Amino acid sequence: MKRTTLISSFFVSIGLCFTLLTVAQTPLYKDKNAPVEKRISDLLKRMTLEEKILQLNQYTFGINNNPNNIGPEVKKLPNGIGSLIYFSADPVLRNQIQKKAMEESRLCIPILFGFDIIHGLRTVYPISIAQACSWNPDLVTQLCAVAAKESVLSGVDWTFSPMIDVARDPRWGRVSEGYGEDPYTNAVFGVASVKGYQGKNLSDSYSIAACLKHYVGYGMSEGGRDYRYSDVSAQSLWETYLPPYEACVKAGAATLMSGFNDISGVPATANYYTLTEILKKRWKHDGFVVSDWNAVKQLVWQGVAKDEKESGLKAFMAGVEMDMKDDIYRVHFPALVAEKKIPMKNIDDAVARVLRVKFRLGLFDEPYTKVVEEKERYLKPEDVALAQKLTEETMVLLKNKNNTLPLSANISKIALIGPMAKDQENIVGSWSFNVKTADAETLYDGIQKEFKNATINYALGCDFDGTNEAGFAEALDKANESEVIILCLGEKKTWSGENASRSTIALPAIQEKLMQELKKTGKPIILVLSNGRPLELVRLEPLADAIVEIWQPGIAGGTPLAGILSGRVNPSAKLAITFPLTTGQIPTYYNMRQCARPYGTEGNYQDISTEPLYWFGHGLSYTSFTYGDAKLSATKITKSQKMTVEVTVANSGSVKGKETVLWYISDPACSISRPMKELKYFEKKEINAGEKAVYKFEIDPMRDLSFTNATGKRFVEAGDFYVHVNNQKIKFEIVE
Ligand code: BGC
Repeated sequence: MKRTTLISSFFVSIGLCFTLLTVAQTPLYKDKNAPVEKRISDLLKRMTLEEKILQLNQYTFGINNNPNNIGPEVKKLPNGIGSLIYFSADPVLRNQIQKKAMEESRLCIPILFGFDIIHGLRTVYPISIAQACSWNPDLVTQLCAVAAKESVLSGVDWTFSPMIDVARDPRWGRVSEGYGEDPYTNAVFGVASVKGYQGKNLSDSYSIAACLKHYVGYGMSEGGRDYRYSDVSAQSLWETYLPPYEACVKAGAATLMSGFNDISGVPATANYYTLTEILKKRWKHDGFVVSDWNAVKQLVWQGVAKDEKESGLKAFMAGVEMDMKDDIYRVHFPALVAEKKIPMKNIDDAVARVLRVKFRLGLFDEPYTKVVEEKERYLKPEDVALAQKLTEETMVLLKNKNNTLPLSANISKIALIGPMAKDQENIVGSWSFNVKTADAETLYDGIQKEFKNATINYALGCDFDGTNEAGFAEALDKANESEVIILCLGEKKTWSGENASRSTIALPAIQEKLMQELKKTGKPIILVLSNGRPLELVRLEPLADAIVEIWQPGIAGGTPLAGILSGRVNPSAKLAITFPLTTGQIPTYYNMRQCARPYGTEGNYQDISTEPLYWFGHGLSYTSFTYGDAKLSATKITKSQKMTVEVTVANSGSVKGKETVLWYISDPACSISRPMKELKYFEKKEINAGEKAVYKFEIDPMRDLSFTNATGKRFVEAGDFYVHVNNQKIKFEIVE
């Protein structure tokens, strides 16, 4: 053998040994090709109790941060903290904090950065209740994917969204954050958002983890007041509140947040039955549950723990793996483990759940955020266009007397009046921390662009509340000079969302008075409403020729509204929540249970109509849709057979339009009293003028006709059922 060959073989062998040695030394949990479960158990074996406990804590970071205190703030963080609520949206700062975890903590476990990205980060799109009115879950998935991308590029790995709390009391501010009064609608839109946030794979570059909240029954808060007691019966827990969670857990949602409420006496944050029995044992969820903000500590105030130590014990043993903000787990768990009140196997299971989400997100392998220029991060034109598209489908045409809308193309003078007309602050809705006010298109700007040849006579008229009528005179002058009045009223963004309950859902008296004064001009009034909940419109509705509910559309509301006013866009939204006639009618929702005296006048209010102003599902179009007779594939099936029902819908008007067909079922005689009807399926299609479309619903008895008992067991009973579509109600039978 030549000498050179000998020498090179020597170095090759040395190199090989060195590589083998390095491989042997690289812990398995750092090997990105190893299976996640193996990585978790390898890492767990190496962790001290203190390191494990730190993984179960979430701190906040970044409020009022400025570049000068980044250093000290980062230093203050305990090395090895599990998660942070990240208020900064700055990828550079995130990377600095992460660097500390990756380089200074013993095992280099990445931090999970969470934040409330509820309806977009900078490309803020309509609030959730509006999204549900679009009946277009695909668009919602696409927008959630945009939110996920903007989040990743801002340093956020995990959003505290979607909120899938069925909500039937519009006094509760958080009706704005969910998908309305119906369990199925919440399930469908919840799943759509989980898909958008998490993408095909959590480890994809632009995927973030979703968090279903607020598990469970929070929407039932008594009197519509936040943080209150909720009397949720076992039956309604299973029938109404759990189904959206079950659907989203099945869709792969990585995490959940426990609620502030209690469930008939047992707080949601200390509820073993919902957190462990149902979620982990029955549904086999293998991610983790984070408490809501201070919810662990609040167990003391809720009267189930004598001190913080006991509250930590109760929350953890019930199944809350991560403590948001309270710092109770970090402080008290070493003693609770030493006292054998918390078994090590529970700690290990909880830590494994947190690590599982981190591994699945790919954080161990790519802990840092890509830093790109701000213009590459946010408000990409195609994303804003997508937000506009969804926004067009969320705006509900509630009333259109004598076809007031669309406005004539020849209109020359429009009065645009009201506190919402030039607003950029409130129109974006709550939970929009990162939005820049200047990004929000005003209704005024959208209308001005659309009606280029018309003069827009703008006047503020009045503020959102207060008693100052000084602006009325100018508003009346502008109205008198114009052919039509577009009156933009509504709620401030702080009137809905968390801790924002109202005792009345009417607009403040000053706004109602402005409308009453404008009515005296005799000009047609188009009422445009921007709000986060159904409103009491009993006094305003008779004064309006047309009403458009635009909710809180986010940054791209002006152009879509203007499109609807001009007819460029044909409205297609339908309400996902009922508008009661008055606040006193609450609760009013379409899927109420059957009752003892449903006919005639008995059981009705003596002073007002018992009918709400607009039912769930109400929404008008500029075209008309004519439904043919619905046809069933069979009138009798067994419990294990399936059948289809279909209906042909004709666009009998003169413009193209989108129609959503809502399919309901009802069961008039069952061993429990069931809702008057229950939504089971919907489908939205665009139909050209003069054309027809066929809508089909496949009825699967176990999925669509069954009910649960108070333990969650599902039954289908033989007997008569009805399928409801539009105004038709068709009978069929299930036989043994
Ligand atoms: C809210 C949650 C939110 C959390 C973190 C709580 O007060 O109830 O919905 O995700 O704060 O900001």
